[in-house]
Amino acid sequence: MGNHAPEDYFIVKAQENGVTVIGLTRGKDTRFHHTEKLDKGEVMLMQFTEHTSAVKIRGKAEVSTPFGKVDTGEE
Ligand code: TRP
Repeated sequence: MGNHAPEDYFIVKAQENGVTVIGLTRGKDTRFHHTEKLDKGEVMLMQFTEHTSAVKIRGKAEVSTPFGKVDTGEE
């Protein structure tokens, strides 16, 4: 798998219970391969890997990326 650059990482901090982080596969098919539930205040450091090319987040969370911060779940 090799090493990954810092740019491959991002941080998700849940701002409510039951935030869902879904990993999507890399390659020809883009499908869900992993679902992670976070409760309020929980922080998860995540990485893009040879298996994970995209991530979908449901619920209110603060996402820190190399490109800046973004809040999900804002209405
Ligand atoms: N087995 C997955 C992988 O190596 C684990 C993983 C890494 C993951 N980053 C993720 C799962 C982001 C969900 C979201 O790719």
